[in-house]
Amino acid sequence: MPAPLIAPSILSADFARLGEEVRAIDAAGADWIHIDVMDGHFVPNLTIGPAVIKALRPHSAKPFDVHLMISPVDPFIEEFAEAGADIITLHPEAGPHIHRSLQAVAKLGKKAGVVLNPGTPVEVLDYLLEDVDLVLVMSVNPGFGGQGFIDSQLRKVEAIRARIDALGKPIHLEVDGGVNPETARRCVASGADVLVAGSATFAGGPGRYAPNIAALKGLA
Ligand code: DX5
Ligand code: ZN
Repeated sequence: MPAPLIAPSILSADFARLGEEVRAIDAAGADWIHIDVMDGHFVPNLTIGPAVIKALRPHSAKPFDVHLMISPVDPFIEEFAEAGADIITLHPEAGPHIHRSLQAVAKLGKKAGVVLNPGTPVEVLDYLLEDVDLVLVMSVNPGFGGQGFIDSQLRKVEAIRARIDALGKPIHLEVDGGVNPETARRCVASGADVLVAGSATFAGGPGRYAPNIAALKGLA
């Protein structure tokens, strides 16, 4: 099995030293930088906005994987694109017309991703899959780092992997929430190729980032 790409979620970083933290995970082998944007309304937590993403942009050349947990999302897509997002992932529940929102991301020249909450069925992809670059499966309910992995989501990953393979388009399948070296292995076995990891990357401080990322890739 090929090693997955690892996208550390900076939600678990030291917010007082965010630029340094992004440089540290970049140097430690992160493939993408996962940025969780929360509005205190779509999810019960508040995090960061476009100004912070813009400030972080010069600190890494790795893709910025921006996970938008805000509603309404449409009025902000362009601002996140301009701030430096490379991949923009959207929840179907965050606006009235998910297909139109994904088109807006693509029109801005960014990779478009659709996110499925734990309670969101695979069928939401029926008329979306061919038009996205990435599917993100939430293995926790969105809002916080450090939650436990929801096992039922592995069945969802398997089902989506089969759909992607049948379509024959190179669409990334990413898992977010409760990923540690043990659940990472099961995600990859189920067909995921990108893993988000907040707590499991940042645990133990900067000296541990490289071994933590290696362990998530199954290389430790
Ligand atoms: C949750 C976020 C996740 C979170 C993951 O809403 O989307 O990206 O930071 O944190 P861990 O890896 O600690 O579960
Ligand atoms: Zn996320």
